[in-house]
Amino acid sequence: MKKRKLRDLEVTEIGMGCMGFSHGYGAVPEESYSIEAIRRAYEFGCNFFDTAEVYGMQQFEKGHNERLVGKAIEPFRKDVILATKLHIETEEPKQDGSLYNTIHRHLEASMEKLRTDYIDLYYLHRVNPDIPVEDVADVMGRLIKEGLIRGWGMSMVNTELIERVQPVTPLTAVQNIYSMLDRDYEKKVIPYCMEHNIGFVAFSPIASGFLSGKVTTETKFGFDDVRTWVPQMKKENIAANQPVLELIESYAKSKNVTNAQIALAWMLKKYPHVVPIPGSKNKERILENLGAWKVELTDREFKELDDRLSKIAVYGNRKDVGFATEYID
Ligand SMILES: NC(=O)c1ccc[n+]([C@@H]2O[C@H](COP(=O)([O-])OP(=O)(O)OC[C@H]3O[C@@H](n4cnc5c(N)ncnc54)[C@H](OP(=O)(O)O)[C@@H]3O)[C@@H](O)[C@H]2O)c1
Repeated sequence: MKKRKLRDLEVTEIGMGCMGFSHGYGAVPEESYSIEAIRRAYEFGCNFFDTAEVYGMQQFEKGHNERLVGKAIEPFRKDVILATKLHIETEEPKQDGSLYNTIHRHLEASMEKLRTDYIDLYYLHRVNPDIPVEDVADVMGRLIKEGLIRGWGMSMVNTELIERVQPVTPLTAVQNIYSMLDRDYEKKVIPYCMEHNIGFVAFSPIASGFLSGKVTTETKFGFDDVRTWVPQMKKENIAANQPVLELIESYAKSKNVTNAQIALAWMLKKYPHVVPIPGSKNKERILENLGAWKVELTDREFKELDDRLSKIAVYGNRKDVGFATEYID
């Protein structure tokens, strides 16, 4: 697979979101299946794996996903770029004696689960307004110097937050929601990142499955499935957003590829520093998604698709339910 730069880290154009094996999309497969799925993705050429300390907390326990990913990638750990994320609760730095101690403690716990002694990309999963991002950036800078992490990032942030941390410790990547249905960050964050050599990692790039065309108004979502609250997955919004799907389908048919592949190929063509991390619990769909790197949209096809897409109204943005809305600009 072709590679892209997230500042100093070289990752495959498409990474693998591993959350669904533990968290967020209902029942999970057997551990052996998930491990094999991750290893197959690696064999296919993927070198970028995304997890977080909290993945698993609904059905299992915090760290379930990190344990699974750690076990899966252990044989080829040095060959991959491993990303994980932490949350910092307001009272923790006081209890630990310092913010450095808190972040270091989270990092050590993640590394143990992930069976590694360094993390390539360590994200602040959500900004806690009680903890200044400049202080987090300072600690991340120390951890880089100590060789415990290679780079750092923040998730669901706007340009104001990014600008505050840049002079302290420049970001390796920002990880925000981005897909054909969620394009708020095209206005400021994506251009800012491009200008300042910050990678942009797009999560939920298939709009939680909608852009594959496999979700219909009849689809039922179970326990621990984010789609019970994701507004795009409300029946009326699934129906209202069909024009986006019809547009994708017309390209998928003419190029003999899948809808999900068009959704991913579109963002790869649109920006040189955007790296989508689609998530799937299914071995075949994982390879289908990774295979999107080979789907070439010509300049003309892309322009036409992008122009037509921009004219279609989209319903059910996550900010309608207050999903980290304060950081969307
Ligand atoms: N930073 C953050 O706050 C944050 C938040 C959410 C997610 N993430 C990361 O981003 C990754 C991806 O996000 P996501 O999983 O929410 O969204 P996504 O990749 O847009 O969608 C995942 C959903 O789409 C389905 N799907 C994926 N590929 C498909 C295909 N080719 N055909 C049909 N259905 C397909 C999956 O079902 P199946 O499993 O059945 O294939 C799953 O239900 C996560 O794994 C996680 O690592 C980060």
